[in-house]
Amino acid sequence: MALDIQLRAAQPADLAGLAADVLVVGVLQGAGKTPALPPSLKNVDDALGGALSKLAAKDEFTGKRDQTISVASLGKIRADKIVVLGLGERRSIGSPEARTFAAKAARAANGEKAKTLALALPAGLEGEARAIGEGLELGAYRFTKYLTGERKPKASLAQVMVAVSGRPKPAVKGQLALGQRIGQAVNLSRDLSNEPANVIYPETFAHAAEKVAKDNGVKIQVFDFKEIRRRGMKLIDAVGRGSRHEPRFVHMTYAPKGAKRKLVFIGKGITFDSGGLSIKPAAGMGEMKHDMSGAANVVGLMAAVAAVKPKVEVHAIAALAENMPDGNAYRPGDIWGSLDGKTVEIINTDAEGRLVLADALAYARALNPDAIVDNATLTGACVVALGNTCSGWYASDEKVAREFDGAVKASGESMWRMPLLDELREQVKSEVADVKQTGDRWGGSITAALFLHQFAGDATWVHCDIAGPSNLERPTAWMQAKGATGHGVLTFLAMIERSRA
Ligand code: BES
Ligand code: MN
Ligand code: ZN
Repeated sequence: MALDIQLRAAQPADLAGLAADVLVVGVLQGAGKTPALPPSLKNVDDALGGALSKLAAKDEFTGKRDQTISVASLGKIRADKIVVLGLGERRSIGSPEARTFAAKAARAANGEKAKTLALALPAGLEGEARAIGEGLELGAYRFTKYLTGERKPKASLAQVMVAVSGRPKPAVKGQLALGQRIGQAVNLSRDLSNEPANVIYPETFAHAAEKVAKDNGVKIQVFDFKEIRRRGMKLIDAVGRGSRHEPRFVHMTYAPKGAKRKLVFIGKGITFDSGGLSIKPAAGMGEMKHDMSGAANVVGLMAAVAAVKPKVEVHAIAALAENMPDGNAYRPGDIWGSLDGKTVEIINTDAEGRLVLADALAYARALNPDAIVDNATLTGACVVALGNTCSGWYASDEKVAREFDGAVKASGESMWRMPLLDELREQVKSEVADVKQTGDRWGGSITAALFLHQFAGDATWVHCDIAGPSNLERPTAWMQAKGATGHGVLTFLAMIERSRA
């Protein structure tokens, strides 16, 4: 459920009068290093008999980022609980920091089983209203749909009053609402990723994408298995043929009038990755219900794009299959063709993601875009390299690398550039086919990227090996507090919005 977010112009002195289950007050770090509460908290502090200033002195609270004091108000002010949150120095706060702040506030509220939150912004931060709206939705996110009875959360944050000092510009309200829609779009990706594989499989994923398309006025085409085969997407056929649930291929299009640039975003949509005949060990296999996070990202991205309405043509492609062992499944040693025409020697049926992406890349190239960005929970090796909060990304050239790097910085997501090392290209050469599916033991994320590079051809291309799906789509406390999606939707959106003709 979307949060009901209200904007309220409050005098700083009014904080004691804000009615809410939790009041979160953001405090900037001043020039002085001495513990200090801002004048706006004086009334609250007085009402609480000086409890806040005492705590501030004891904890040496200066407003440094992440410093927190919280007290129960025991009826002395209108809010039941007050949390004072350090924001750091004003000049260090951009959209990512504002988003993080709002996300922390929403998370704190849910942690207190609050239904209502009053969020007091320091003067000047209303300019980050969009990021605040994003952060509130992202921080409030939980996946509780399958909990019943006693296990159902007793309360969920439903209402937020954003209090700004002075009269906000009219645009602030619209920016808050826009941020909310973007946050909800990312939460939609998270929801899709969190659904178990008995509920979300290629067919039902495609239905969900159709609903998103309908709700957002975006065009959509869904290819069924017959169409996938008819078109020659042989690698998607190979990966998906061992499952009772047939593959699907989804293509969504947002094409505004006068667009001067065309971007294609591709997502790996393995709705469950058992490993196939090269079956995975039992421990942790359940996490592979998240192996369609890349596809979930591009669907959520389209909802965000529909909200932002950029003058850029945006395509979202989801290559959907379930990777299962079966009498009809593909095998190690097989040689399969592809939409591109190249033949691929299969080494390990657990390296299925790069195969469905290869066909999606060939399809995307035919759209003649200015750039293709794919994203996939592609390798465990990337998680080993960067940990499970950071994604790796690769670029086909320095120009698009600068562009993508700018988008990563603008979004504040944790994504680190990796190299397409030429010296590892040997590893994906085959004796019996045009291309070998996997490399040897070392450099697994890089060799996966090098495999894909052959199917991106000479297109301008960025590849994101997105981090541990379990931690990203079921955000850890750390990520949720940061309002982090970590998985790229906000970066992709930034790339689209920063696009120049
Ligand atoms: N979906 C997995 C990669 C993965 C595993 C991502 C765990 C995040 C967490 C992918 O399909 C896979 O199984 N990759 C193999 C490739 C190998 C067989 C070359 C891997 O990383 O082990
Ligand atoms: Mn796999
Ligand atoms: Zn996989």
